[in-house]
Order: sequence, then C-alpha cells, then structure tokens
Amino acid sequence: MARYKIAVIPGDGIGPEIVAEARKVLDAAGEKFGFVLDYQELLMGGASIDVHGVPLTDETIAAAKSSDAVLMGSIGGDAKTSPWYQLEPSKRPEAGLLKIRKSLNLFANLRPAYLYEELKQACPLRDEVIGEGFDMMIMRELTGGLYFGERRTVEENGVRKAIDTLTYDENEIRRIARRGFDIARKRRKKVTSVDKANVLDSSRLWRAVVDEVSADYPDVELEHMLVDNCAMQLVRDPKQFDVILTENMFGDILSDEASMVTGSIGMLASASLNETKFGLYEPSHGSAPDIAGKDIANPIATILSAAMMLRFSLDLDEAADAVEKAVKQVLKDGYRTGDILSPGCTRVGCQEMGDLIRERI
Ligand code: IPM
Ligand code: MG
Repeated sequence: MARYKIAVIPGDGIGPEIVAEARKVLDAAGEKFGFVLDYQELLMGGASIDVHGVPLTDETIAAAKSSDAVLMGSIGGDAKTSPWYQLEPSKRPEAGLLKIRKSLNLFANLRPAYLYEELKQACPLRDEVIGEGFDMMIMRELTGGLYFGERRTVEENGVRKAIDTLTYDENEIRRIARRGFDIARKRRKKVTSVDKANVLDSSRLWRAVVDEVSADYPDVELEHMLVDNCAMQLVRDPKQFDVILTENMFGDILSDEASMVTGSIGMLASASLNETKFGLYEPSHGSAPDIAGKDIANPIATILSAAMMLRFSLDLDEAADAVEKAVKQVLKDGYRTGDILSPGCTRVGCQEMGDLIRERI
C-alpha cells in the first residue's frame, strides 16, 4: 500500500481543532482509496514559542523538508492579550510562518475562491451580481515583495521613521507568472495580472515580465488590472475572473476579499508550492483565538486544503475528488457551521462537521 509522510503543524487558536477534522477525513479517504498517511506533528507559531522560545526551529524546518507534504492549521494569537506579542517582531508567531514559506521556497500560493450553489445565501452580493456564480483562482507570489524586503525603524532628529522595501527581480516574477498561466490553461484560460504599475517600479517590471511570459501561452488570454480597480471589480462583477496573478501583499489583501464574496473565509483553502510537487497546505483564514476550543470553528477550509494536498503533492486525484464531493454533499444536506449558517439549515460544530464529511467519503 502506498504510504506518505505528512508533516502536521496544528499551530495555535483553532488550528489543532480544524487539523484534527482534516486528518479524520484524510484517513477515511486513505481507507477507501488504499493509501496510508504517516503523520509527524510539528510545532510552529505560538505553540513553538511556548516550548522553544522561537516560532520555528531548524529541526522543524528539516522535518518538514523530509516529508512529502505539510498540512497546517493556523498560527498566531490575540495581539492585544497574548504574551507572544510582547516579543520583538522577528520572534512572534507570524515570523515562523514567513520563515517556513521562505525556507521551503514556497513561492506559489494558490487560493481558490468558489461560490457553492448551496452557500449563495451566505454571499453578501446581490443575486444579479452573483448570476451563475463564480470560480476564481488567486495565484499569489509568496516569498518576495514587501514581506521579505529589508525593513527597519529608526529615529531621525527625534522623529520615528519606519522603512519597508518592496523588491522583485525578473526571475521571481517569471516563475510565478508561469505557474499562473499553467493553471489558467487547465481552467478557463484567462489570466488577470494585478499590479500598481501607475505608481510602482516593481509593478512596471511585473507587467513587462508577465507580458514576456504570455508570449509562450498564446491560448491564454491576458489582461492587466490595477489593484485598486481589482478590489472594486471583485465585488462589482466577480464572474469576470479566472486566474488572478499578483504579488505577495496584493494577494494577501485580495484573497481575503475574494473569500468574503464566497460567503465565508472559513471555506477558503490554500496550497503553497515550490518548484517540485512539495507543498504546504493551510486554510487562508487565521487562528481565530476568540473561538478557539469552543468546537464552533469551520473545518472546511482545512479539509479542502487537505484535498489540494492529495491532488498536488501526492497525485491522489480520485481521493481529492471524493473529499471535495463529500464537502459539497454535506452542504447540500443542509449542515452548516455558525459562520455559514442560513435559515432552514442545521447548525453543527467543528467535530460534527468533520464526522459528517468523513461519513460521505
Ligand atoms: C495569510 C496571512 C499571513 C500573510 C499572516 C498571518 C502573516 O494573512 O496567509 O494570508 O499575511 O501572509
Ligand atoms: Mg492574509
């Protein structure tokens, strides 16, 4: 029987709860489709700070690297009350997440935003805007730009000043652009490249390199869009988008927006990939410390991330399809966690949602 090594990072807040449900569903898929996942639990974020004093250790990076894929929950706590945020910024939970992305070279972040027929009522847009629904893939560059540029805070003549730098070289742009076009080819063959080329040099280079790459994909339509306009178009007419290709910070912001138009950020999965099949899979949402431990979190984004893991890193397409179908079926059957609840549906908790999905594999 095929066996795979999966590094699991439950993380903080609701992370451990939602990852437990994803594992249940993965194991059911393994039983049905004949594979075994060997899990190794790793600490990251606040959970790692509590034990090791740092959000990510070299041992954790090495263990993640030696696995076939990484499944993650979420990291971070309440910035106002958690002692983790008394530490200097480079030692806080989020620094661990950025470091693992960089160390594993996970430059391509895929965030699918899809409106489930069953969740139309949770979508804040009007019916005529929703139309037949929408289905887009946000391809976010994940290891460059403002997130990884030099930064410092200084004081000049008694005035505090902070500097962040936004850098991209053409190789970084080219490799993510290729990924965007490759994915578009398997979808509706349209790439919307999002930048701020009317202001930023990095965006002007982005646009030029994306144009060069597009020459190799004559079958894929390319359009350029300014990020402010894109933010508006996402709520004005989300149907127009197939693949949105964009840099790190813009992708962070636009993917939260896209998730909200699908009804809930609790539904949005993500895959972060390097040049090989290896990837880290995590929901796009955060650790929601306010609802942690209450068994009310929505595990679906994590379960759908696990399905992406089966598909992209393990080539278990059939099993991935089964997980996605089980999620759809559970929604069709009227079960909802609180975040996507609408009248006439049955409210369930995190564990029950996991059980219901597992039963449908
Ligand atoms: C995300 C998150 C992270 C990011 C934070 C937690 C650093 O918002 O994955 O979108 O900004 O990338
Ligand atoms: Mg974000």
